[in-house]
Amino acid sequence: MAFALKEKFLIAMVILLGTLASAMPRRLDETVLFEKYQQWMTRHGRTYEKKEEENWRFEIFKDNLEFVEKFNMGNQTYKLSINQFADLTNEEFRASYAGYKILTRRVPPKSKRFKYENQTDVPASMDWRKKGAVTHIKDQGSCKSCWAFSTITAVEGIAKIKTGQLISLSAQQLVDCVKTKDTDGCSGGWMDDAFAYIVKNQGLASETKYPYTSNDGTCSPRKAAIRIVKIKGYEDVPPKNEEALRKAASQQPVSVSLNGGGRNFQFYSEGVFTGHCGTSLDHAVTIVGYGTSEDGVKYWLIKNSWGKSWGESGYMRIQRDIHSSKGLCGIAREPSYPVA
Ligand SMILES: *[C@@H]1O[C@H](CO)[C@@H](O)[C@H](O)[C@H]1NC(C)=O
Ligand SMILES: *[C@@H]1O[C@H](CO)[C@@H](O)[C@H](O)[C@H]1NC(C)=O
Repeated sequence: MAFALKEKFLIAMVILLGTLASAMPRRLDETVLFEKYQQWMTRHGRTYEKKEEENWRFEIFKDNLEFVEKFNMGNQTYKLSINQFADLTNEEFRASYAGYKILTRRVPPKSKRFKYENQTDVPASMDWRKKGAVTHIKDQGSCKSCWAFSTITAVEGIAKIKTGQLISLSAQQLVDCVKTKDTDGCSGGWMDDAFAYIVKNQGLASETKYPYTSNDGTCSPRKAAIRIVKIKGYEDVPPKNEEALRKAASQQPVSVSLNGGGRNFQFYSEGVFTGHCGTSLDHAVTIVGYGTSEDGVKYWLIKNSWGKSWGESGYMRIQRDIHSSKGLCGIAREPSYPVA
C-alpha cells in the first residue's frame, strides 16, 4: 500500500515536471524577453503613443534579438548588438537611415585629377582621430542626411590638417542649402554636390552657428554667410582601386559611399565587419583611417552618423583589400575628398 502510494506520487511528480518543462519555460522566456525589451526602451529613451504599437514593436524586437544572438554564436570576426535600431524591421531601417542617392550611372567627375596618384610615402596604418582631425560622433536621426555628415567629416579633417584648428561644421547648412537634381536634404544626396556647394558659397558655417535639426529646413542666407572654413575644390579617387583609396586616406579623411542598409550593418557592434552586404550604394560615411586587426584582418576605419550606440562608439572597422575591385560593400566605388 505504502509502495503504491509512493509510486503514484512519483508518477504525479513526473507529470507535473513534464508540464512545467513544456509550459513554464515558454512563459518565463516571454517575461524575460519583455523585461529585456522594457530595459532596452529605457536605455534608448523609447516611448510609444499606443500600447498596440509597443506590442507589435515587441514582436520585431524579439525577431531582431534572435537574429543578433544567433549571429553572435558563430565564429565571426565581428559581433552584433541590440542597438537603438532594435525595434525596426530592416525595411524600415533602410527607408529611414540610409540616404545616398542610388544612381545607375556614375556622373563623370569634373576633373580627372587625383592629387595623390604619385604618393609613395603611404604608412601601413593611419588613424586621423589620433591626429586630432576628427570631431565627436553625430546622429543624423531619421533624416537621410548621411551625405551631409560624410561631407563635413572630410572637410573638418582637411581644415584641421591645413590650419591646425578642428571645428565641428554645419550639416544642416548642407541639408537646407544644397539643392540639385540629385541632392535634396532629408531625401538623400551626394557628397560631390555638397563639396561643389561649399566651393560656390565660399565656405561653410560651424555647427554652433547653424545647428542640426534632423529635419528639412529653408536655407538661411544669414547663417550661410558665417563662413568658418573654405575649400578650393574636390577630387574623386580613381574608382574600384583600394590602393589609390589608401594613398588618399593616408593624407586626409575621405568621403565614401557603400551598401549600409543590410541587417548585419544595422546591428554591427564591434570587430572587423566582413559582410554580408551588397555593392549597391545606399549610405555615405567617411574613411578616417585604416590598419590591420590583431587577427591580421586589414580594415578601413569609418566614421558613421548614427550616434555613439551604434558600432564601436559610432565607428566601424570594415574589411579592406578584398578580392573584388568594388571593395567590401562597394566602399571603393565612389570615394572623393575636398581640396583645401
Ligand atoms: C574561428 O575562426 C578563426 C579564424 O578564422 C580560426 O582560426 C578558428 O580555428 C575558428 N574556430 C572555430 C571553433 O571554428
Ligand atoms: C605623377 O607623375 C607623373 C609622371 O611623372 C606626372 O605626369 C603626373 O602629373 C603626376 N601626377 C600628379 C598629380 O602630380
